[in-house]
Amino acid sequence: MLVKVSKSKRTRIIDVLNSDQFESTVVVKGWIRTKRDSKNVVFIAMNDGSVIRNLQVVVDAGSVSEEILDKITTGACISVTGKITASQGKGQAVEVLAQEIEVLGEADPEKFPLQPKRHSLEFLREIAHLRPRTNTFGAIFRIRHAMIIAVHQFFTEKGFLNVHTPIITASDAEGAGETFVVTNIDLEKPPRGDDGQIDYSKDFFGKKTNLTVSGQLEGELAALALSEIYTFGPSFRAENSNTSRHLSEFWMIEPEMAFYDLEDNMDLAEEFVKHLVKYAMEHCREDLAFLNKRAEDEDKNKKQEDRRPMSLLESLEFVGNHDFKRISYTEAIEILKNSKPNKKKRFQFLIEDWGADLQSEHERYLVEKHFKKPVIIYNYPANIKAFYMRVNEDGKTVAAMDVLFPGIGEIIGGSQREERYTRLVEKMEKTGIHVDDLQWYLDTRKFGTAPHSGFGLGFERFLQFVTGMNNIRDVIPFPRTPGNAEF
Ligand code: 4AD
Ligand code: MG
Repeated sequence: MLVKVSKSKRTRIIDVLNSDQFESTVVVKGWIRTKRDSKNVVFIAMNDGSVIRNLQVVVDAGSVSEEILDKITTGACISVTGKITASQGKGQAVEVLAQEIEVLGEADPEKFPLQPKRHSLEFLREIAHLRPRTNTFGAIFRIRHAMIIAVHQFFTEKGFLNVHTPIITASDAEGAGETFVVTNIDLEKPPRGDDGQIDYSKDFFGKKTNLTVSGQLEGELAALALSEIYTFGPSFRAENSNTSRHLSEFWMIEPEMAFYDLEDNMDLAEEFVKHLVKYAMEHCREDLAFLNKRAEDEDKNKKQEDRRPMSLLESLEFVGNHDFKRISYTEAIEILKNSKPNKKKRFQFLIEDWGADLQSEHERYLVEKHFKKPVIIYNYPANIKAFYMRVNEDGKTVAAMDVLFPGIGEIIGGSQREERYTRLVEKMEKTGIHVDDLQWYLDTRKFGTAPHSGFGLGFERFLQFVTGMNNIRDVIPFPRTPGNAEF
């Protein structure tokens, strides 16, 4: 591949490595991973985040002063001017023969916490400000970016409009009461009403506000005018869940479509995640190959039954190219009731009756043990799902659907929406949601209502699947979880 290199401007390492312009002079800048001294020559491995591979810089004795060589240590940042050459060593085709090195930022080797060895993910979480400098996190964040682009590409090609929904809202879309309050009331001396309660009418927005848990309700307003829209924004949930699949701040993609029923909704969800998976396989090959090897190495230290049934790459390939299994909640309960772990009381939550909420252990059993493929469960009991879901003919189930993935469980939750005004009001009253607070939402049902559907994909849960990372805290640059808001 012919890549333009420049004598004065910086060339990215990926472009140098892909270049065949031997003997050209380039300037590269980046962070030192390792330095290796050998007779009369020093080898530096450096990386600038543009690609997982390091660039080998060769420094011949005498070409760079001792003073500079001393500052060339793991973690330091350097600018190298040198000649692109065909590498003599194995492991790389191209290297740079240094003519001049400038140290842009030193890194005291006694204090720099990242050493050229494998660190534990737990340790790296404690230094989340430096972990992007590791191979693993470089790969993850490049894949994260590629997936963002793939999301926008998928919907743009289908004519969906991207809508920005508010981050500060006065509603709790999921009605689960797990919101973070947004206020600028003086917490030492809050204004109080006659009843002694805090008077939020005196707060900044004249009412009690919180960080959004979902952009769905506003997304519905947009869909009932623009037909097909999607949101892609942060969601905040004050669930006190310290699990490997929960964040207090996560990103969600929420498409909302007028004129779609539940089946159209499931079709779109399946097509969407398959598109993302295939995009990753096509555009992130090197990073995925690295993470695949990483997951394999990790498995070597695990008991046979805890190992992945397929390699990371195999599971991506499988999900990208096989139909998901679709079953009703009622069928799922029958399978679970009669399953071995239920009969042998190995589930933490035993399934006894229709109406039980499914836990991640049940979801994973269905996906990993029973069907061995992604599963979409639809038509859930009304009383374990949110108020806005459309009631089915039977009166006890709603047109909900969850997409369940191996290793994770639920990655998508969605439904056909209750578009019938009276039914929706009834449901809100039953579930204790104040009709007055959501007058604007109800207006869409009053004026030109239409059948419509949508879903939410948890972006980080999906990234866990694509990268093979077991803990959701390792697929977002700066995780927010109970007790953790550093960086
Ligand atoms: O199932 P949920 O709660 O659905 C909604 O929020 C709907 N308003 C979506 C819609 O229909 N427009 O959340 C959707 C997805 C989940 O399936 C999960 O992947 C992710 O969001 N999610 C979380 N991800 C990380 N941390 C958390 N605490 C999450 N809660 C939900
Ligand atoms: Mg859900």
